[in-house]
Amino acid sequence: MAESDLYNGPLDPRTVVGFHHVELSYGGTKALDDVSFRVTNGEFVCITGPSGAGKSSILRLITMDAFPTAGQVIVRGMISTRMNRGSIPRLRREIGFVFQDFRLLEDRDVYENVAFAQLVVGIPGAEIKRNVMRVLTQVGLWQKRRQMPRTLSGGEQQRVAIARGVVNSPKILLADEPTGNLDPAVAQEIVDLLFEINDGGTCVVFSTHDHDIVRSFGRRVLLLEHGRLVSDEERRLGDRRKSRLTDGMYRPREEIEREARARETAAARQLEGE
Ligand SMILES: Nc1ncnc2c1ncn2[C@@H]1O[C@H](COP(=O)(O)OP(=O)(O)OP(=O)(O)O)[C@@H](O)[C@H]1O
Ligand SMILES: [Mg+2]
Repeated sequence: MAESDLYNGPLDPRTVVGFHHVELSYGGTKALDDVSFRVTNGEFVCITGPSGAGKSSILRLITMDAFPTAGQVIVRGMISTRMNRGSIPRLRREIGFVFQDFRLLEDRDVYENVAFAQLVVGIPGAEIKRNVMRVLTQVGLWQKRRQMPRTLSGGEQQRVAIARGVVNSPKILLADEPTGNLDPAVAQEIVDLLFEINDGGTCVVFSTHDHDIVRSFGRRVLLLEHGRLVSDEERRLGDRRKSRLTDGMYRPREEIEREARARETAAARQLEGE
């Protein structure tokens, strides 16, 4: 690819993730074949397709846990073909990750699970407390901060994992089948939470093979089949597009924000009292 192509396309400052004719082969199997797309600032994208289509592979390429066998992946200006060992940590600091199976530390409580992500990047103590409070409040679990993961429901555990995923204020939140282990109502709540996080400016890319979620999804959907991107569609649902889905009804953004502010004030009071 010519350097000029890069500067006109994926290196555009609004590009958060750029795939340029990406191929990924594992031995003889092509997991991804000539995949190109671009995700810009603040977008919320759903990657869907049947099992084995290549959804997780796309997410692994974004975190650069895998590298294309042809083509290039560009994440926040960092180019897969020019990465070295030193630049990987810089890339990973820009990305939060949520897994299908939560992957919480079972011997740490909710608070510690989230605080841990801050400790590893060297955030000072007082700041950690503020940040953990902010994200646990956002996911509605500040009250349960002293509980151990095994005492929480699956949906709650996933909320803790999301809080951990965003506590370092990443530019991108990736979620691989985050609703895969949850029943449909709880799954919808998790998607709503991802919408809320996206409203705060974080770019969200998540994978799912859940048709109900894809059908009700008001944003962009990438459809993969056998490693090829077969459709890249903006799902337009009129006014619904910019707001969240709750119990099949879209609520006004002001109402959601008012609730979030009330939760934060309550949590701050409690923190002062401790
Ligand atoms: N480490 C690996 N070694 C060999 N083949 C792999 C590896 N990881 C993935 N594959 C193959 O690459 C293809 C795409 O896999 P990927 O995990 O990206 O699919 P997926 O869409 O996430 O599937 P699922 O919905 O089951 O999670 C599959 O054919 C898979 O068998
Ligand atoms: Mg997968």
